[in-house]
Order: sequence, then C-alpha cells, then structure tokens
Amino acid sequence: MPRPKTHVTIRDEFCIESKAQPCGMIIFGASGDLTNRKLIPSLCHLMCHGLLPETFFIIGCGRTDYTDEQFRKSISEGLTRLDEEHATHCHRKFIDHCFYIQGDYKADDLYIQLNERLNQLDSSYATSGNHIFYLSTPPNVYGQIVEQLGNHKLVTQSGDESPWTRVVVEKPFGFDLESALELDAKFHTVLNEKQLYRIDHYLGKDTVQNILIFRFANAIFEPIWNRHYIDHVQITAAESVGVEHRAGYFEQAGLLRDMFQNHMLQMLALVAMEPPVSFDADHVRNEKVKLLESIRPFSKKYLDQQIIRGQYTTGIRDGIPVNGYRDEPDVDSHSMTETYVAAKLMIDNWRWRDVPFYLRSGKRLPKKTSEIAIVFKQIPYSIFAPIRPDDFAKNVLIFQVQPEEGISLSIQAKHPGPKLCMSTLNMDFNWQELFGADLPESYERLLLDSMLGDQTLFVRQDDMSAAWSLFTPILRAWQADTNGDSLKFYEAASSGPYEADELLRRDGRQWLEHQF
Ligand code: BG6
Repeated sequence: MPRPKTHVTIRDEFCIESKAQPCGMIIFGASGDLTNRKLIPSLCHLMCHGLLPETFFIIGCGRTDYTDEQFRKSISEGLTRLDEEHATHCHRKFIDHCFYIQGDYKADDLYIQLNERLNQLDSSYATSGNHIFYLSTPPNVYGQIVEQLGNHKLVTQSGDESPWTRVVVEKPFGFDLESALELDAKFHTVLNEKQLYRIDHYLGKDTVQNILIFRFANAIFEPIWNRHYIDHVQITAAESVGVEHRAGYFEQAGLLRDMFQNHMLQMLALVAMEPPVSFDADHVRNEKVKLLESIRPFSKKYLDQQIIRGQYTTGIRDGIPVNGYRDEPDVDSHSMTETYVAAKLMIDNWRWRDVPFYLRSGKRLPKKTSEIAIVFKQIPYSIFAPIRPDDFAKNVLIFQVQPEEGISLSIQAKHPGPKLCMSTLNMDFNWQELFGADLPESYERLLLDSMLGDQTLFVRQDDMSAAWSLFTPILRAWQADTNGDSLKFYEAASSGPYEADELLRRDGRQWLEHQF
C-alpha cells in the first residue's frame, strides 16, 4: 500500500477555553453591515458551540425602524444566507435571545428606553446586570454615544466585579494622534481603561495568535529569532478587491490609517516583541508597546526611501477591465487617497538592530493574501564548491494568515539521484487539511474574550498612541504634498507601484515571488 505523502500527528494536549459570563450585549449600529456580516453570525456560532450561556441576550440599537420581530427576521435571513445548511434549531434558539430598540444616538429617549429594556431583560435572563456596549456605528458618533451612556448611568467607572459594564469599540479610533487622544479622553470620563476593548480583528485570527504559540511554546525557534540569524521580515496584507461600496469612509481614511496603523503594526509587534512574563493581558501588551516604541521614527528627509504610497489605476482582471480608484463610485476624480502602502521599518533594540521589516498592503492587487515571512540569513560558507553561499536559497518561514491558514518552512535538501543536486523543499502545514473544520471567524474569539473580561487581544491606550505617533507625521507630510509627488500609481491587478519594489532592491532584496 502506498505510504501517505505526509504524516502529521496532532495531539490535543492543552486546551484553555471558558464559557462567557452571563450578560447582555447592546450593539449600536445593529442594522449595519458589520453587525450582519460578522457580529451576529459569530455570536450565533458561539451559542451553537455551547460557549454562550442561556443567561445572555442581545439588544440591537439602530436608526432603522424595526420591531423585535423585524430585527429577528432580518437576522434570520442573514444567517440562512451565510449558512443555509445549518439554518437549524440552534439558529432559532439564538434568535429568541435578540431584541431591538430604534432611536437617534444623540437623543435621551433612546437611552431611557434602553434603561427600561435592560431592567426587564436583566431580570428575565439573570444577567446580574452585566452589560457590554458594542460600538459598531460610524466613528463620528462614538463620542456622543459614550457621553449619553454616561449621562444615563448606563456605564460608570468600575472593575470586573459583577455588575460590570464594558465598551467594545471598532476601529478607526481617531484619525491621527491628536483626535485619538481627544476621543480617548472622552471615553475615560466615564470608563476605565480596563472597561475599554478596542478591537483589531486581525488579533482574533487564529494564525495571528499562533505567532505567540509558535514562538513561545517551542524551544527551537526563539534562540534564532534575532539579528544573528534573521536577514529581514516581510509582512503582506493584499486584497484583490477595490474600495467597493466604502468610498465614503475610505476617501477620508486611506490605506495607512485603514490597515497600517492597526493590523500591520499588530502583526509586526507579535513577531518582534520580547517574551512576555505570562500570557496575561497586561504582560503581553507591555511587550507590544515596548516594541512599537522601539520602531525608528521615519526621517522626513528620506521619506520616499522608507514609505511608498500608491493608488490603483484602471487595469484588467480575469480578462475584464476594472475601474481605477478615481473612477469608483463616490470617489473624487482628483482623489489623492492612497490605496497601497509599502514601508521599511527599523527597530532600534538589541534583538533587531539592522534587520529591516518590509510591510506592504493594498487594494486591487492580484489576489487576497496575508502572510508574514521570516527570511533567514545566507549560509556563512559553502562546503559544496563551486556552489557559492549566495547560490543557496535562504530559509524562509512563512505564517500564512489567510486565505489558506498555515505555516511553511523552506529548506535545502539533496535531490535524489547519483549527482549532487540540491532543491528547495517546503514543509507545509495547512490548517484546513490538518484540523479539518473551518477556522473560526476572528470576531468569535474577540467577542468571547470581551465577555470573559480578557483584554489580551485588544489594543490598549498606549499601544494605540504608539501606533498613531509613528504614522501621524507621515499623514501630515502626505497632506502637505499638494502636488501629489509622493503618490505613485499602479495598474489594478498588478503587484503595486514600481517604487515599492525599489524599496527592497535598494537593499539588495526583493519581495518574495510566490505571493503574486
Ligand atoms: C478592515 C479594513 O479593517 O480590514 C478593510 O477596514 C479591509 O479595508 C479589511 O478590507 C481586511 O480584513 P481581512 O480580515 O479581510 O483581511
């Protein structure tokens, strides 16, 4: 019988999983896209997997004029659309826990109604008065909502003892350092930092969390995780889609705010931070902040050699012409908003001195892929003359974040046969193949953690400020560039602007080829 191609043994040794505490979750922006596509399906999935208690309810708040029944109907249709096969008993059970209140986020009336409804539901669901307020609205109303929650005593500064109140807030948290701090001050008039859960959904992705397991639950990698063995690191988050229906938001935000200030820096921090004392929220976040604060600030004088901003023009995708960014609906025909950023970051500490971290992210690239590649140094000397050290491919370790979650390590090996030939082999571990089931949506982990009071995967105030401090000067410099000299163009479905390749070529390196 032929032997299987690869043989992998998986032993489940330790599982740390807890069930959420009794609580009510109040979602502001309940008729919005994020609620329908991510929050509701994730909460439903958690309930179907027994991770939510019976003592749990949801109140949706929004401007749309729904009754409880209409809200439930819209949720039910959404869930069935996403997962027709499992539109089951469990979905119906979940829907029975959902309620709705319509209102204007500014108006007292909404909060008076909310107070009454919470009193009723707390007693029917025995939640002990524990509440999570989830802000999934446009960010310009965050301040108003939190102020009103404070005015109506729906949130007060408290700790983790029951009854507790927490606020989960979606990005963007501010649009530069100043506005983020201003918003933060508003939140802190009614909440402690311990009650504030700033979401970065990349931290909820299994493969992103796996970086910590990989580094700190294995003994063999940490000794080589430094400037002596690692040549450089590449982090890519590419999307094939354009701006879609989000021009209203994206025109103001641009890619640096949308992806770099949060997701890209969070991935970088997990790869490069020092080992935390424990997997406790503050220990992990202390190390992340320390790392973010060690990133060398960009030099104004050499900005174009450290960070590139691009915008897509028309192109051809699968034989079909696609719009340039400026032709997309609701985009200004002279827009200077960047849809692509590539940057070279240096970290000034003992571990990473002189190791460049190249980051790139963009819309309308050839395909959707996010990965972190650790490129090791060349061998120091070749015993296989005339093959020179430079002829050997470098070892590359890849954390594939999506769409195919996994890890791969490339190594050199002898090609079978009488001659001395070498090949590059990839040891590939594909999560889907190994663990079978679909990986959970990143929001499941984060929603559950917010109900458990675990802030490890949420962005702390100093974490957020460090990220804004790094990028706010860039945003200012680009804003001041009224001629648009710093904006480079790339064809839709191409791999990005030429200048992004130059960023590495100047250092004698290149983006890994397998990506596009
Ligand atoms: C969001 C950005 O935070 O992340 C979007 O606002 C982007 O513009 C999205 O498309 C990418 O997330 P994911 O999980 O699909 O890689």
